[in-house]
Amino acid sequence: MQAKEVEIVKILRSGAEGRRGETKSYVSGQALSRELGISRTAVWKHIRNLRKMGFQIEASPSKGYSLRAAEASGFNGIGIQAALATGIIGKKVFFYPSIDSTNTKAFELARNGEPEGTVVIADAQLKGKGRIGRRWESPPGVNVYTSVILRPDVPPQYAQNLTFLSAVAVAEAVEAVSHRRPAVKWPNDILIDSRKVAGILMEMDSEADRINFVIAGIGVNVNMEESMLPDSIKTIAASLAEKSGGEVDRIGFVRSLYSSIEKWYKIYLREGFTPILSAWKSYFDAEGKPTKVNCFNSSVSGICAGVDESGALLVRNSAGAIVRIISGDAERG
Ligand code: BTN
Repeated sequence: MQAKEVEIVKILRSGAEGRRGETKSYVSGQALSRELGISRTAVWKHIRNLRKMGFQIEASPSKGYSLRAAEASGFNGIGIQAALATGIIGKKVFFYPSIDSTNTKAFELARNGEPEGTVVIADAQLKGKGRIGRRWESPPGVNVYTSVILRPDVPPQYAQNLTFLSAVAVAEAVEAVSHRRPAVKWPNDILIDSRKVAGILMEMDSEADRINFVIAGIGVNVNMEESMLPDSIKTIAASLAEKSGGEVDRIGFVRSLYSSIEKWYKIYLREGFTPILSAWKSYFDAEGKPTKVNCFNSSVSGICAGVDESGALLVRNSAGAIVRIISGDAERG
């Protein structure tokens, strides 16, 4: 990662944010050279690199440099890294304009020893993977597709905890940028007005007694228009833009998402699953409602009776018995 480029984008962005909507804000070459401890010629070379990467930076001989605040000027590795407010999540960013699947890439990187907190993020996926072998629609320029490597020191039977943790983090970030309170559908779909705006695919590599790593793969429909969706999901999916009434800044969303993941992951390592489950329940609204869960080779219908302390779904069937479900695909019954 080009550290000086990241620093320059941070400095130019803070200028732009301070004067949002007003005339452009400039930072002089001299101020940049002083802050970065490099010569003005070196500043100019880094600016040239950034322009080659697509950053729209204006230069005025009397005033200095100004970065267009628009997201168009930075949905790439440097633009994302410069926006982050985290210490662990996103410490290393692997950005791809287009990739088969960020989960597949993250899995490969984790196998090769990349540390916890490393993220893979792409503008588009060619073979985005959904749960249960489904495909995840991943057109360019509109959404967020990211996978985070985690290496919790817990036995594999606790991996499901991280599914709930990811759902809470995504729900919190969705709420922060859309100003709409989402709901979680067990275990980890994120819905607004009963339409799916985000999905999570967890993958794991483990030994019998310990997790080597978990990949939390997160797909969020940020600005995707309805016309981009295949007919089969037009009535069940939606985007944050649609639900919040305007285009959403993807970089701002990613910043918020990684901050939430980091916050909840630290809580998990310190205090265990209880606070995660309690936050998750605050987004869960299906209790007491008819529910149908498709499991591996059967399905269970009944009234949702909540979740137990491990996160398993409880369904009261027509005979009045509580059925405990640890994995499956829930739908309103
Ligand atoms: C679901 O079916 O609800 C889960 C969808 C998960 C999609 C994300 S997009 C980023 C990551 N890479 C993938 O290939 N899938 C996940």
